Amino acid sequence: MNLLDECFAANRLWAKDAVENDPEFFKRLEALQRPEILWIGCSDSRLPPNEIIGRRSGEVFVHRNVANLVEHTDVNCLSVLQYAIDVLQVKHVIVVGHYGCGGVRAAMQSQPLGLIDNWLRHIRDVHLWNRDELNAIADLEARTDRLAELNVEAQVANVCHTTIVQDAWRRGQTVTVHGWIYSLHDGLLRDLGMVIESPDQIPPEYRLFY
Ligand code: CO
Repeated sequence: MNLLDECFAANRLWAKDAVENDPEFFKRLEALQRPEILWIGCSDSRLPPNEIIGRRSGEVFVHRNVANLVEHTDVNCLSVLQYAIDVLQVKHVIVVGHYGCGGVRAAMQSQPLGLIDNWLRHIRDVHLWNRDELNAIADLEARTDRLAELNVEAQVANVCHTTIVQDAWRRGQTVTVHGWIYSLHDGLLRDLGMVIESPDQIPPEYRLFY
């Protein structure tokens, strides 16, 4: 059996098991999608969101791109964020980075990779803003991992600076933004301790409507 035939065979088995365990499973999901979490993560094939946090179908709304970036002109990411908050009413937006991220590593090197260098430019900005701290870390792997953490922090801030999150806060909707980082080494998630849930927690220069 070739790879794609295997995918279909596995899918049939999965659908059969799902109905055997819970006859109403698909009927319920078809009628209603009510996730409480928006996961904004890296496209890396080793980070399947639902699997890592033990959530079933219907429980996590997902946006992924290379190096989990949230850019204020990225209509794709902003549309996911707006739909998740305004329509699905998710309670938590979680930016999930990871150690050993190829995107972060590439952004620390001079080797050109093509179009993606324009996307990864955002990480070079984070590097520049934190140049002193990063340059003080001698070990390249440790420096890359620290930049991955700083990148998550920057993207959490970007989520909070959007009109979407600020509008939600203004109308009294509870939306909490978090930053997590995943280790490919041990499969564990770490909370970077950012819990942002009100405009008081963002710099006044980014505040809207207050
Ligand atoms: Co990555």
